[in-house]
Amino acid sequence: MCGIVGYVGSQQAAPLLLEGLGRLEHRGYDSAGIAVLGPGKESRLRMAKKAGRVRDLTEELPKRFAGRVGVGHTRWATHGPANDLNAHPHLDTKGDVAVVHNGIIDNAAALRAELTDAGVDLVSDTDTEVLAHLIGRSEAETLEEKVAEALARVEGTYGLAVLHAAFADRVVVARNGSPLIIGIGDHEMFVASDLAALVRYTTRVAHLDDGELATITAEGFTTYRRDHGGVSAVPRTATEVDVDPAAYDAGEHESFMHKEMLEQPEAAERVLRGRLDERFGTSHLGGLEMDARDLRAIRRVKVLGCGSAYYVGQMGAGLVEELARIPADAEAASEFRYRNPIIEPDTLYVAVSQSGETIDTLLAVQEIRRKGGRVVGLVNVVGSAIARECEGGIYLHAGPEVAVASTKALTNMFLGFTLLALQLGRVRDLSIADGRRLVAGLQRLPGQVAEVLAGEPDLVAPAARLAEAESLFFVGRVRGYPVAREGAQKFKEISYRHAEAYQTSELKHGPLALIDPRVPTVAVVPHDELTDRNVGALHEVAARGGPLVVVTHAEVDLGDLPSQASVHRIDVPRNERELDPILLTVPLQLLAYHAAQSLGHDIDKPRNLAKSVTVE
Ligand code: G6P
Repeated sequence: MCGIVGYVGSQQAAPLLLEGLGRLEHRGYDSAGIAVLGPGKESRLRMAKKAGRVRDLTEELPKRFAGRVGVGHTRWATHGPANDLNAHPHLDTKGDVAVVHNGIIDNAAALRAELTDAGVDLVSDTDTEVLAHLIGRSEAETLEEKVAEALARVEGTYGLAVLHAAFADRVVVARNGSPLIIGIGDHEMFVASDLAALVRYTTRVAHLDDGELATITAEGFTTYRRDHGGVSAVPRTATEVDVDPAAYDAGEHESFMHKEMLEQPEAAERVLRGRLDERFGTSHLGGLEMDARDLRAIRRVKVLGCGSAYYVGQMGAGLVEELARIPADAEAASEFRYRNPIIEPDTLYVAVSQSGETIDTLLAVQEIRRKGGRVVGLVNVVGSAIARECEGGIYLHAGPEVAVASTKALTNMFLGFTLLALQLGRVRDLSIADGRRLVAGLQRLPGQVAEVLAGEPDLVAPAARLAEAESLFFVGRVRGYPVAREGAQKFKEISYRHAEAYQTSELKHGPLALIDPRVPTVAVVPHDELTDRNVGALHEVAARGGPLVVVTHAEVDLGDLPSQASVHRIDVPRNERELDPILLTVPLQLLAYHAAQSLGHDIDKPRNLAKSVTVE
């Protein structure tokens, strides 16, 4: 979604801001803009913004754009269409104030009406513009107080960065529900909504909390808390983040998604490292902050997430139920909050999110906590909003994930759930022998993921054939059903083909009517207690001329399918049956990837989608 960058220092701001915006492109956006404060005492504010890509803005940037203080933004349209006028930054009437903003101002309509009545000419359709005017009209003395005064009028969520020509040595930022990170350099300071825009310059950062403001100047930063319409300083220490800047470069890969898929074996090793206990066949999850007695007291597990995180949450709930014999289910976080859910004290709520920013998941977490529920997080981004809002959790250690389509984070979510289910199981009825069996299975798993990835060349042609279809089914049963759902999600996200997931058992109750040679079915058929029934359903599809791609195990006999049937078989290595779902998922990533590639799509930036959806 929207991205923010800011800079104060001795270098020219514009090239740095544009570079930073380029690093945020993956978040999804439809317009971009920057503003800088020109040199000299009578500082002038210069601004350029445009619908389209950051490179369009770069190409059309005016020659005279000098300034060592600046802010930049990539916008995802919420209030008003994606056009040049609605792009950020937004200025006040005099052109002294520039504001870039992530989030949504809920009372924007009332504030717009009030400003119009006061004679202000609003030039955009956005909620953000009101902030620029409120700050410009404030009579408070300092920029920090002006911003605080404006924010006192505002309801909603924001991460914002403000320039003011009369305070030309600084950028003032504020946060409420939308991330902002300060990057500390040597006589220069940065600010961004995402680490990705900072790590090339610094790995020393300070996080802002909700309700806080900060000022950055070339020499340092000060954080404040809003109180009684003014501000008071609050101390903040910087921390060193442990990220490899190379994680934000696609390197020799044609896309981040490709790079991140191939990183899965090492990412999987990281999430397991130090957490497996071979001797007692269990896992150690210190971050959960729950002892055996707490774990035993849990009577139900409820998983909440959105998109792929929701589907892997369904795999996770299945694992918990199977290994720990605790009733468990997953629900889309976006729905949960609105149905006035019953929050039970002995339920463990698990919020799952790569970014830790997804607003629907965050708001669900807050609702649970408001009602006294216990919620832990399975989150990739350390220190993110969801991670901080949860009482404990399991960090996924997948490393930065840039592509919209989640691959390595998703695999690590599955493994995180396995670790959780193992620990919950071992304080209950899961035997030490079964615990050891699963620990050994987990240890084999990263290598098996690598084996599946090595089969990539064989998947290019079948993927291209699937891409020719307008509509596809993805089917699976029980453990295989969430795999099919995630497979369909990935396929539709990046190939834009209609891909629908079904339980294989439900095919004959409806979708079979649609099967013909133009509608392929991707079937997940593990070697398990349901193999025969799954194979039976494949015969029904083949008999109607439906092309099949079957993701399965070498041990599975598909029987005598009609000789003219179009069947492509993908065998993946077997692990323990509980752990097989993730190995069956990986080929579906590769199929989606190569389908999208054969269609010539921009894989890392699928249309209409964003990496983290921070507005409702
Ligand atoms: C967006 C993306 C999905 C992703 C979902 C959840 O909708 O398009 O691919 O699965 O957000 O993201 P999260 O960061 O919470 O895992």
